[in-house]
Amino acid sequence: MNFNAKTCAADTVRSACVVVAVSEPRRFSPAARQLDKASRGQLSALLKRGDIATDCGKTTLIHTPQGKVQAERILVVGCGKERKLSVQHFGKIVSAAAKNLQSGSATEAVSFLTELDVEDRDLAWKAQRTVEATRQAVYRFDELKSDVKPPRHPLRRLTIAVNERGELSEAKSGVKHGIAVANGIELARTLGNRPGNLCTPADLATQARALKKDHPALKVQVLEESAMKKLGMGALLSVSRGSRQPAKLIVIQYSGGRRNTRPVVLVGKGVTFDSGGISIKPGAAMDEMKFDMCGAASVFGTLSAAAEMKLPINLVGIVPATENLPDGDASKPGDVVTSMSGQTIEVLNTDAEGRLILCDALTYADRFKPDVVVDIATLTGACVVALGHHTTGLLSNDQDLADELLEAGQNSGDRAWQLPLWEEYDEQISSNFADMANIGGRGAGTITAGCFLGRFTKDYRWAHLDIAGVAWKSGHAKGATGRPVQLLTRFLMNRCA
Ligand code: BES
Ligand code: MN
Ligand code: ZN
Repeated sequence: MNFNAKTCAADTVRSACVVVAVSEPRRFSPAARQLDKASRGQLSALLKRGDIATDCGKTTLIHTPQGKVQAERILVVGCGKERKLSVQHFGKIVSAAAKNLQSGSATEAVSFLTELDVEDRDLAWKAQRTVEATRQAVYRFDELKSDVKPPRHPLRRLTIAVNERGELSEAKSGVKHGIAVANGIELARTLGNRPGNLCTPADLATQARALKKDHPALKVQVLEESAMKKLGMGALLSVSRGSRQPAKLIVIQYSGGRRNTRPVVLVGKGVTFDSGGISIKPGAAMDEMKFDMCGAASVFGTLSAAAEMKLPINLVGIVPATENLPDGDASKPGDVVTSMSGQTIEVLNTDAEGRLILCDALTYADRFKPDVVVDIATLTGACVVALGHHTTGLLSNDQDLADELLEAGQNSGDRAWQLPLWEEYDEQISSNFADMANIGGRGAGTITAGCFLGRFTKDYRWAHLDIAGVAWKSGHAKGATGRPVQLLTRFLMNRCA
């Protein structure tokens, strides 16, 4: 889909469809008011009769605008009661418009939704969000269907309207960033949606190399198991030994910043299928464990977006990729393994594999002399219990870094919430037989997982994002969400500002 920005007025613009807003009680946005005037009161008459919905996210399509209106159609989107919209509501309004346009017959439209007031957000932000939410709303994963029926008249071009020429460059830069982030989100969703047999560790490595084709500024390196063995990554290798697919450690570098400035290192959990291993999971919904590489996918998506935006920053993405399967040679509960850091780990549950692969990747991260390290992982079912499917869990050994990420979450609408990393919790992972156990008992599973990782991140500022609840949706809309690419790209953009 194409996006652009231009200066125009709602009543005189020639378009297949103009998109405007209405809120309760019976309040038109400025562009809607102009259209009402040009149509000699058509909109207000319809509204009075109850034929225009004002609830947030409800749409009404007017096929035959009257009077002097130049557009062929008017799409009115309801905004509910709020005078100032929340970030969440704005996203809902934009996606409702996009879905209506995608299934309707206009293939091109001009949107005036960026004239809405969104709490503390400027035009560039609204333009960016419009592009992202529109692309997210029309995304489909149908590469594995043999008989796809695309929409009859898909939306091909969305123009973001601005009032004055002076606003044009701001809107255009928002559009550009929106396209880059949407591409990153889409990449993360598509990688997440691919099944375990088509998205193995080797496939992820191939994807990384493909990413370099799109963005020559990236540098890609893939470490094989032999190299991991030399490095002493006994924790990571203890997970992959139960699988016939060899593990890969994928390293992607983007150097958009000054030489010698310390990079942001992103570490993404890349378990391409998590059966639990010998501590095997129950069968129900086990297919969803193909999404256990969504942390990795978000690292790919974020690097792609950063490269496309040409952010002046140095970035390193590290993805430990493996399957977790049972086998005669798989790790067993009670096995003790030695991590790259030298610390020994008693594997009390082979289903707590994410922390085992991340700990070695986090030790490896130190060689890049990071400014900060952020890991992203579908790490604990406990995080879904604590925060549900709306919010990412955040844990950190540095409050400034935690605040930066929380703020990026608030700003983008891709929100996170912090949990504590206190010593009392850390005591839960003590072991009688090794330096630590890989599980911490019944309570506070997300925090004890964070404490485990915290033992490998003492030498730098670090934060952990547990995306177990937000990385994908279950049920009839089953599929990867692309989260937290928005949070991460906003975090990086803020660091560049
Ligand atoms: N990938 C899972 C976490 C998960 C489970 C994410 C369900 C989303 C939905 C992880 O590897 C895992 O199995 N964690 C265990 C840890 C436990 C054994 C301490 C869990 O959460 O049950
Ligand atoms: Mn597991
Ligand atoms: Zn897992």
